[in-house]
Amino acid sequence: MTSKFIRPNVAAMAGYVPGEQPQDRRYIKLNTNENPYPPSPRVIEAVRAAAGDDLRLYPDPMANAVRDRAAQRYDLARDNILVGNGSDELLSLILRACIGPQDRVVYPCPTYSLYDTLVDIQEGEIVRVPYPSDFQLPSGLVEARGRVTILCHPNSPSGMPVPIEKIETLARSLEGLVVVDEAYVDFSAQSALPLLRKLDNVLVLRTFSKSFSLAGMRIGLAFGAPPLIAELLKVKDSYNVSRTSIAAAAAALDDYSWMTENVARICRTRGRLIKELRARAFSVLDSQTNFVLARRPGVSLEPLYRQLKERGVLVRYFATPELFDALRISVGTDAEIDALLAAL
Ligand SMILES: Cc1ncc(COP(=O)(O)O)c(C=O)c1O
Repeated sequence: MTSKFIRPNVAAMAGYVPGEQPQDRRYIKLNTNENPYPPSPRVIEAVRAAAGDDLRLYPDPMANAVRDRAAQRYDLARDNILVGNGSDELLSLILRACIGPQDRVVYPCPTYSLYDTLVDIQEGEIVRVPYPSDFQLPSGLVEARGRVTILCHPNSPSGMPVPIEKIETLARSLEGLVVVDEAYVDFSAQSALPLLRKLDNVLVLRTFSKSFSLAGMRIGLAFGAPPLIAELLKVKDSYNVSRTSIAAAAAALDDYSWMTENVARICRTRGRLIKELRARAFSVLDSQTNFVLARRPGVSLEPLYRQLKERGVLVRYFATPELFDALRISVGTDAEIDALLAAL
């Protein structure tokens, strides 16, 4: 048994199962919330330029070209920002730096299930506070007294935002750290970033994988008080972001309107998708993300997920007691959504 070499908590873990990334046939891929539109041509140009002789050299360990542009864009300082190999890496760094055996990590559920895996690696204690069916922020988060509390805003898989005032009240009531995972915030109305001016126990995470169409480059940003960012730096790999990723992220921030125009298109398509799904007797929340959660309360949607897959449309099905009657559908192009609706 090779597992004797492995820490018992790791051996006992199932491991995170990411959404399917089929490499065999082409699907209309609406299962992992990628952007259906390509990245900015300026990003492609910058990646091509970075893919030259300089690849023999290590990248800037701090990715300062990205930090400086992000500081300007979000009206913060370089020291407020840490660049990660996707926001998944940043979540991992935060838990590695903050959580040891039995330390409590609290989050409302269902949410992004990678949090479970990352806490298990640290041997922390997970406290899940259930969301009600309308996905409004539940009470009990303060009482759970997390060393770290994670809020996914807007949440996956519900698509529902957390009001910023509620995040502020929560952070003021807790002694622990509040991590706001804003992977989808560019598709919503309000960010928690302004809270960083008032509170030093809040970290905000962003990703370039969704709104900036760069899931393949693996870039994320963490924003927080400089002393907190300095501690996280200690536990990151020296060269966590590649030269090509640094070039891509810097160029993406330089061509910000490319992103906002794509986001506007996706939000228009989202409105149409929600209307059409409701007309087909699905119950659908008013998503503020680039996906929607379509439900038939009490009815398993696994057969529908399989039938859609057979017809070449891939959506996300979660085989859990809370979500067995739901499909999470990423907002694709108008043509992709037409194909989904025809298949339905
Ligand atoms: C809520 C949430 N946070 C973080 C991530 C990870 O994003 P990244 O690609 O930046 O690692 C995802 C990806 O789907 C997500 O849904």
